[in-house]
Amino acid sequence: MRCVVVCLVRTGVVLRAMRSRMAAPVLAVFAFGSEGSFRIDSIRAVSGASLPAASHLQVHHGTHALPAGWSGVQADYVLRGSTGHLRYVTDAEKQTLAKAPPVLGRPEATRASLIPIRKSDAWWELAQDERRAIFEERSRHIAIGLEYVPAISRRLYQARELGEPFDFLTWFEYAPSDASRFAALLQALRATEEWRYVEREVQLDLTRVSR
Ligand code: HEM
Repeated sequence: MRCVVVCLVRTGVVLRAMRSRMAAPVLAVFAFGSEGSFRIDSIRAVSGASLPAASHLQVHHGTHALPAGWSGVQADYVLRGSTGHLRYVTDAEKQTLAKAPPVLGRPEATRASLIPIRKSDAWWELAQDERRAIFEERSRHIAIGLEYVPAISRRLYQARELGEPFDFLTWFEYAPSDASRFAALLQALRATEEWRYVEREVQLDLTRVSR
């Protein structure tokens, strides 16, 4: 009995140590309204319904609740997401991605895009290995994306499990001189087999106006 207790305690210690070494999820609330660090230059529905017009976007990190004072005029509506574990990346791809990790908040990267995406039921009904095959073996999502690193910094927020209207909130930052490269990246990805499963996509192009 004593051995069982000691083993359980040791396992708990090891699991806690492993957990503390893994990156903690980053929670975020995207608040659309009349104030915020990003000016909304355009909102465009690529597939499905668009989002309501707003002039500014404020991103609050570390919370899924709106901080005090962010209601009414400042936040007409919100989207929520959390970073999560990698689902499709192989070990070799992980090593390659780690050589140029995305850096957010670069001073020269004054342009940003928020692209909320929802995939179809047909996508979510596929088995994991079939989704991976479409995502990378057939669509080359990572291989294409790596051609634009480090000019385009990115962060992927998961939103499906939060019951949000989108499955993913994808965030990108780049210098104004790289805006045309970002457009080329979008064109390349949207032409892939993976994008046939995207049923709602809205592109918001932004300019950072304050820190
Ligand atoms: C900047 C270059 C890019 C790189 C290096 C890149 C890389 C990746 C990687 C490694 C994943 C897999 C994460 C996982 O294993 O769970 C991923 C997922 C994803 N990326 Fe990209 N990406 C790039 C650009 C884009 C762009 C421009 C979009 C949107 C227009 C986008 C949308 C997504 C979405 C929606 C997922 C989630 C797919 C799913 O789980 O079904 N990515 N990306």
